[in-house]
Amino acid sequence: MSIRVRFMILIGVLSLLAILGISVASYKFSINNAMNEARDKGKLVFNFLESARLHFKKVQRPRILELAGPGQRVPVELKSGFALTRGVWAEFEKKVPDYAFRQATPSPLNPANKADDDDMKIIDIFRNDPEITSTEGMISRKGDPYYYFAHPIHVGESCLRCHGDPANAPEWQKKQYGTDQGYNWKAGEVASAYVVYVPLKKALEQAKKSAVDLVLIGVVCILAFMLVIWFFFSRYIITPVTMLEKRATEISLGKNLGEPIRTPSRDEIGSLARSVDRLRISVEKLLQRLRG
Ligand code: HEC
Repeated sequence: MSIRVRFMILIGVLSLLAILGISVASYKFSINNAMNEARDKGKLVFNFLESARLHFKKVQRPRILELAGPGQRVPVELKSGFALTRGVWAEFEKKVPDYAFRQATPSPLNPANKADDDDMKIIDIFRNDPEITSTEGMISRKGDPYYYFAHPIHVGESCLRCHGDPANAPEWQKKQYGTDQGYNWKAGEVASAYVVYVPLKKALEQAKKSAVDLVLIGVVCILAFMLVIWFFFSRYIITPVTMLEKRATEISLGKNLGEPIRTPSRDEIGSLARSVDRLRISVEKLLQRLRG
């Protein structure tokens, strides 16, 4: 195999390895970035909803109850924080349909809050370790990748008035929600979890696309680079060396001794050419002397 081909293969393989390494690193970097961004978005959405709920609880609800007067029945939309966040989300969801917020509850009063299989995985994390106050990570939801951010909702004694034994629950509630679900919760248990799901699909696809683009651009650059090297190799090394090899063979056979070897190059090839030329002159003189 010629030195030029060997050199090209070496350069090609090394550059390809370098570009693959860079692509993998860039892919990991993009994925990491996508995760961090999703985490920030999830926290932002969660904190915003939580703030809306707290404002309702601290400011609006007491005013509503006060205005209604004691013993007056206030509709659930005007007194439940859970109804408020569900309502806010229903509006928000119209603007960002690929996000999801869940007040995921295995046994809810309102069927809209019923935990699905993905929610259950997160609720189980809280149920298995009651010390955990929040959790986050990646999850596949209906086949698509999401980043989730979740907080547990613990049951307190005060909740049991409505979520404990249905016999003790308010009549209006039983009428509105039935008695099948949302009851018999136990004090201290994790009854539910707030979960924000941030879509990762687009970001992950983008990361993959960038990595593939990088490889393609890298391969084109490597090819262009190799073409330039091929040209310089041919012009400055292969062609002069082939010529010198031909002339050295001729000299060894005593042919063409009168024709000088000219080279303008001042590098190693140039000095080799000058040496071969001196050899040619020496052989020519030697032969002349022998003949004479
Ligand atoms: C006055 C009755 C009442 C009390 C007290 C009460 N809840 Fe509820 N809760 C409701 C009603 C009614 C809903 C359904 C709201 C809706 O339609 O979104 C609900 C909804 C929920 C939900 C959403 C899941 C579901 O069942 O639809 C969670 C979680 C929840 N409550 C937790 C609690 C916790 C925790 C406490 C105690 C800190 C508590 N609740 C106290 C009446 C009550």
